[in-house]
Amino acid sequence: MYNPVAEIHLGRLSRNLQKIRDQVGDALIMPVVKANAYGHGSITIARKLQDENVGYLAVFTMGEALELRQNGITTPILLFSRLTPDMLEPAVENNLTVNISWPNDFDTLTSFVADKGKGPKVHLKVDTGMSRLGVAFDEAADILERLAKTPQIELEGIYSHFATADEGDLTYAHLQIDRFNEVVTLAGKMKLNVKYFHMANSGAVLNLPDSLFNLVRVGMLLYGAYPSDETSESIKVEPVMNFKGPIVTVRKVAAGTPVSYGSVYVPDKDCNIGVIQTGFADGLPRNWYENGYVGFKGEQFPIAGRICMDQMMVNFGDVVPKEGEEVLFFGDEGETQIRIEDIAREVNLTTYVLMTAIGGRTRREFVED
Ligand SMILES: Cc1ncc(COP(=O)(O)O)c(C=O)c1O
Repeated sequence: MYNPVAEIHLGRLSRNLQKIRDQVGDALIMPVVKANAYGHGSITIARKLQDENVGYLAVFTMGEALELRQNGITTPILLFSRLTPDMLEPAVENNLTVNISWPNDFDTLTSFVADKGKGPKVHLKVDTGMSRLGVAFDEAADILERLAKTPQIELEGIYSHFATADEGDLTYAHLQIDRFNEVVTLAGKMKLNVKYFHMANSGAVLNLPDSLFNLVRVGMLLYGAYPSDETSESIKVEPVMNFKGPIVTVRKVAAGTPVSYGSVYVPDKDCNIGVIQTGFADGLPRNWYENGYVGFKGEQFPIAGRICMDQMMVNFGDVVPKEGEEVLFFGDEGETQIRIEDIAREVNLTTYVLMTAIGGRTRREFVED
C-alpha cells in the first residue's frame, strides 16, 4: 500500500529544543503543538517534549487539548482560542489553562466560578498591535483592576502576540514590546501575583532578544524551519520532518510527449517519467511544478507537469528508479537536502502553510535520531 510519508525525527526535535533553551536562558519554553504539531503528529511530539521536561504546551482548540490529555500528556496546556462557556468545565476537569482575550470573557469566568466555586487557570491576552484576539492594551488597566479584585480567578500569565517579529523592519515589533512592558509594569504596581509574562514566538526568539520575558511560545523553530527569510538564522535548527512520496510506476516517455494536465510539460529528450503517489490533496503546493524539484539519491530531478490531486510526475532523465523507492519533497536525508524555506519562497507561501497542509493520507513514521 502506497502513501506519502512524513518521517519525523524526534532526535532532531530534542536537539532543536536544546539549542532554543541555550538561546533563551532562564525563560520557560512553551512549545506550540496546535494543528497536529504543525503537521508533525501532536501526540508523539507532545510526549517527546514532555519527556524533555518542557514546562508548558500550547494548542489552539479544546479538542486538541483533550486529545493530548487522553493520550497521557500531563504537562500544563494553554489554549489560545477565544473562550466560550462550554470550555470551562472540561478545562477545570483536565487542568487546562484558558484565555481572557476579550472583556466579557472575564464575566464568563466570574459567573462560572460563582456557580462552581472553582475555575481554570487563566492567562490574560493583551492586544498590543496584532488586532486579533486580546484585550486592547489601553484597556488592560481596567481588566487588571477587575482581576485584582477577584482573587478566585487564578491569573497565571499575561501575554501578547507579535504581528511582525519575523520581518526585516522591526519598528512595529518594538512598539509592541514597549506597550507590553507598560502592561507588565501595571501588573507589578497592582501587586498581581502573575507567574508568566510572554510574547515571543520563533521570529522574536531569533530577532528580538528583549522580548523574551520569562516564557517563550515556540513552534516553527522547534520543528526545524525558519518563520521567514527575514529572520536571522543564528540558531541552527534541523528539519524535524522529511516529507517523502513513493514512486509507483516508471515509464519511458519519448521526446515531445506531453506529461500531466494541460500538456504544459513536454520533455525535449527521451526520459523516464516516474509517477509519485502524492498530490496537492496531500499538501504539495500545486504551483510548485513550475520550477519544482524532488530529491532522489543525492540528486535533484524536476517535477514534470502540473501536480495532480493525488499524484505527480518527475522527470528522472536516464535514471531508472525502482517502484516503491521514495523521493524527498523536503527535509534532510543524508546526501539529499531540500529546504522547505526554498519551496515556500518559490511558491509564495510560508513554511507554516506548507507544514500544516500535510494531512490525513500521509503516514507518519517516527524515528529516534
Ligand atoms: C499565539 C501564538 N503564539 C505563538 C505561536 C508560535 O509561533 P511560531 O511558530 O512562529 O513560533 C503561534 C503560532 O501561530 C501563536 O498563534
